[in-house]
Amino acid sequence: MDRLRIQGGHPLKGTVRIGGAKNATLPLMSACLLTDQPLILDNVPNLADIHTLSRLLESLGVTTHHDDHSLTLTAQKTLNTRADYDLVRKMRASILVLGPLVSRHGQAEVSLPGGCAIGTRPVDLHIKGLEALGATIELKEGYIYAHARNGLVGTTLSFPLVSVTGTENLMMAACLAKGQTKLLNAAKEPEVTDLAECLVKMGAKIQGIGTNTLTIEGVKDLQGCTHSVVPDRIETGTYMMAAGITKGELELTHTRLDLLPTVMGVLEKVGLQFEPTSNGVRVRVNPSVSHLKSVGVTTEPFPGFPTDLQAQFMALMTVVQGTSTISETIFENRFMHIAELLRMGAHIQVQGSSASVTGVPHLVGAPVMATDLRASACLVLAGLAAQGETVINRVYHLDRGYESMETKLRACGAHIERIS
Ligand code: UD1
Repeated sequence: MDRLRIQGGHPLKGTVRIGGAKNATLPLMSACLLTDQPLILDNVPNLADIHTLSRLLESLGVTTHHDDHSLTLTAQKTLNTRADYDLVRKMRASILVLGPLVSRHGQAEVSLPGGCAIGTRPVDLHIKGLEALGATIELKEGYIYAHARNGLVGTTLSFPLVSVTGTENLMMAACLAKGQTKLLNAAKEPEVTDLAECLVKMGAKIQGIGTNTLTIEGVKDLQGCTHSVVPDRIETGTYMMAAGITKGELELTHTRLDLLPTVMGVLEKVGLQFEPTSNGVRVRVNPSVSHLKSVGVTTEPFPGFPTDLQAQFMALMTVVQGTSTISETIFENRFMHIAELLRMGAHIQVQGSSASVTGVPHLVGAPVMATDLRASACLVLAGLAAQGETVINRVYHLDRGYESMETKLRACGAHIERIS
């Protein structure tokens, strides 16, 4: 198992190219199941999760062709409709094949994704939504058995809570349903919007894109298309915070500022300065502030502060002046990084779903353990700022969502290396 060794205390300076969003690529890839024509995706990040979904799609009868950051997916006319536990258990987002399979093939057997480090994460909303669209669903032996022999039928359904992959799954399913589907209280994360825009290129009829009411008029079939994946706002935000925590200066290219409205507002209050460039942003500590200061955040669905940046933001808050309250409202167990930050000298107190973080003059390097994807990025940031050496174990979590993080950081002056 690989580890990362970091000698902290070196300000980052340089340029980082931001990749396509993992969380947009996964639903986009699943959309290939809705047509037998090729779907060509560009700006695809090279990540473990993308390879995991490629393998799952191949097992269903999809031909995949990777070429650098481009991916061509061609689903056969008739597919295998069983998504096996062995592949699904590796990544919860595998549930995204359920909607397209039932919608185009009238049936699917998809393993229930297991638990994961950040909570129980049920898939009941995906299942109830498909039932509302007319599918018959049975749960047995750890699998979801879904049938809709005569196809799905459009309906109006309202999500009791905002679900990103739930919205994506049902939007894909509704594209080939008979009649109109209205999804109320739908997620409007940029990755949902990116999927909707790709589906429209494929011939889907979707209105309300970018809002929380999506209206989908079912069509008979969809075609292939070429689509470039939206930039990764979580990777962008992580490098913004890396610039802040090391008091460095980074230019982030191939990204878009409209993807992080709340995050940038919060980081400006902390004391960072952003200067838009032709295809991205330059970020540094605002020269007019004497020190970075604490700001409280509460995680919320888009456009609120994303849960996927909560851990990295907490790392930043451990070394700024003052006390900040960070509240997690999306997942019930997303504070696993705190125990590791405490080992590096952070001052954090947890009360229920809120953490009170009091900045210390500096963190101290220590051996730590990554527990999930975003917690790993949090520890990398902490290690970059800490005095001395930090060794992060279980880096495979990081590889699920950050392409070549240590290479990108090293090019900007970080002392970081991967140890096998
Ligand atoms: C997606 C993202 C993940 C991000 C999360 C929230 C992908 C591949 N992953 O995950 O990185 O952290 O959105 O922005 O895009 N819930 C239910 N029942 C369901 C579905 C969800 O109770 O059927 C709950 C979840 O437990 C959670 C909340 O709804 O508390 C939001 O989860 P959801 O938006 O569905 O997260 P994912 O789509 O799994």
